[in-house]
Amino acid sequence: MTSEGLFQCDIERLYYGDFAAVRDTRLSIDEGKITAFIGPSGCGKSSVLRCLNRMNDLTRSFRLEGQIRFGGRDLYATSVDAVAVRRHIGMVFQQPNPFAMSIFDNVAFGLRINRIKGNPQELVEEALRGAALWDEVKDKLKKSGLSLSGGQQQRLCIARAIVTKPKVLLMDEPCSALDPIATRKIEELMLELRKQYTIVIVTHNLQQASRVADDTAFMYVDQITRSGYLVEFGSTKQIFDSPKEIYTQQYLSGVFS
Ligand SMILES: Nc1ncnc2c1ncn2[C@@H]1O[C@H](COP(=O)(O)OP(=O)(O)O)[C@@H](O)[C@H]1O
Ligand SMILES: [Mg+2]
Repeated sequence: MTSEGLFQCDIERLYYGDFAAVRDTRLSIDEGKITAFIGPSGCGKSSVLRCLNRMNDLTRSFRLEGQIRFGGRDLYATSVDAVAVRRHIGMVFQQPNPFAMSIFDNVAFGLRINRIKGNPQELVEEALRGAALWDEVKDKLKKSGLSLSGGQQQRLCIARAIVTKPKVLLMDEPCSALDPIATRKIEELMLELRKQYTIVIVTHNLQQASRVADDTAFMYVDQITRSGYLVEFGSTKQIFDSPKEIYTQQYLSGVFS
């Protein structure tokens, strides 16, 4: 056993070119929990999330000063393969982005590119069940993923992410393009997925964070440098019921958004 969380995030500075988009953001993300990042637009929530699976590597101007440890290992060590990292730490984006292929192939795609062995029929069904989508699509697996509703498309993307059996699911505002009913469905799904995966979400929706997250991180933007930084991190209950920092109090009470 280790006292370290699954992720030990120690960001001194996160740059895009010369701009330090994030500074001084240090926190430990526990295994088996849902951790939410909240804060005003531009405070660096997505940037921090993308550090956790090296998605930022795809941005040429990105540079990290600091360290991200995952399971005790430096995620940015030269020996670490970023593609393998993204297989173990899956991601779901703001806009549902199914591929223009069948529902079945959308999920099977992840198996193919990662050369995962096993029976594709079974693995695809298992992932669709895991994403609470199976019953709605089992009779039309050959139809295009794009024919589904927004909420179904997002669950299809979740199925695509979990078919490779990652350890972690990162979700960047997964409900912001969805209506309230589809949103609640995804929230219920998150609570279900939490039994198997560690989940980190970015959300604009404070109620969503309070409904699903075990721990919450509040980020804010330095008004002079425009760098985002971590203001406060704790259990969701502590952050919402008794925030310690004045900015957290003001944000949660709607003084600014
Ligand atoms: N690829 C990028 N290149 C340059 N600047 C970026 C890039 N992505 C984000 N930024 C900048 O970094 C800051 C933080 O952005 P972001 O992480 O998207 O914040 P949030 O998700 O909290 O809205 C913003 O000022 C944004 O304009
Ligand atoms: Mg964002």
